[in-house]
Amino acid sequence: MNGNSLKTITIDQLVPGMFVSQIVGQSGGVKIKSEGKVTSQKVVDVLRARGVKKLVIDPNRAFTVAPPDTPNAEDPEEARAEKKAKVPFFREIQRAEQLHAQGKEIQKSLLESVQKGLPFDDKIPRAFSHKLVESIDRNPDALLCLTKIREKDDYLLEHSLNVAILLANFGQFVGMDEQQVSDLAYAGFLHDMGKIRIPDNILHKLGRLTDPEMAVMKRHVEFGVDALHAARIDSALIRVVSEHHERLDGKGYPAGIGGQDISQEGRMLAIADMYDALTADRCYKAGMPSQKAMKILLQDAPERLDSGLVQQFIKCMGVYPVGSLVRLSTDKLAMVLQQNDSPLTPVVKVFYSVKGGHFLEPKDIDLACDKRITIESSVLASEYKIDFNSFFERSIAL
Ligand SMILES: [Fe+2]
Repeated sequence: MNGNSLKTITIDQLVPGMFVSQIVGQSGGVKIKSEGKVTSQKVVDVLRARGVKKLVIDPNRAFTVAPPDTPNAEDPEEARAEKKAKVPFFREIQRAEQLHAQGKEIQKSLLESVQKGLPFDDKIPRAFSHKLVESIDRNPDALLCLTKIREKDDYLLEHSLNVAILLANFGQFVGMDEQQVSDLAYAGFLHDMGKIRIPDNILHKLGRLTDPEMAVMKRHVEFGVDALHAARIDSALIRVVSEHHERLDGKGYPAGIGGQDISQEGRMLAIADMYDALTADRCYKAGMPSQKAMKILLQDAPERLDSGLVQQFIKCMGVYPVGSLVRLSTDKLAMVLQQNDSPLTPVVKVFYSVKGGHFLEPKDIDLACDKRITIESSVLASEYKIDFNSFFERSIAL
């Protein structure tokens, strides 16, 4: 081949059908093969995730790309990416961000309707829930990442949205069909609407609620169910919402039903609701690390929560859920970006030096490939006084 025809390009210019002769610019220490065909977009994504910035391509060896749905059995990394996501993270994240913002707006207007005692239009939030499921289907990690972004005063809006996202992911994981997943996500989106009718002094109380206050708080389920009836939502969905505080031992509320009387969807909603509430940062307390929240879920099973579903939920979230922060053996902090086959070695974005106490230029590392680096523990941004939201804006949602 004629060496003179070689061309240096950036990773952003690399497309399927090109032949890479050499990698000439790469951050991070992950060794990757430097010559080969770019058979699909997934190959580009893997190279990008490994920190490749500049490459030399050989235009004389360009080739025709196989149809996108043809799995590449020769490349296990690609096969894994194929199984995990149909669209790369960096493509989905912007769409996911728009959806996330839109979800908060829709939730806000739903709450306003419920507060004023007006029926809401079912079509918009239902269609929105379906879009959430489509995004999760394209790449679950994008929306899951966004569940970690919390604005101090938006708990109610974000909690319902996050529960919908968690359930879309959970529903797909347990093998529900598309309609079931969409209905489940929709139930999550609507489940806490009744809270808007709880007086602020109880809803936002910093300390423990007294028994009479708790009795008022529990009425949010009834208020929500009333609003759903007024909007003529179908009864199966109302049932799921009505069950989100019921527990298998019959000690939940409002009806105190237990065991088989609680639907599978109601049990799943209870798990996602509890997990998000435990991990959420609130104005008066930092959310707990995901592993601690998962321990609490496990402690509540099998008496209160469905043991099999809790196990499935933990499996689907992973040991280190996407969007959570971890401290590495290199004394750096990183955010989990993507699950790998091995739950202990996800792809992470390193962004902070604990020793130096400063931000670093963000770098993606696949811990499945770089065995020298391990995760020491799950951490919280608040432990290091890091403004996680602004880091996210700068480095993830580019
Ligand atoms: Fe609730």
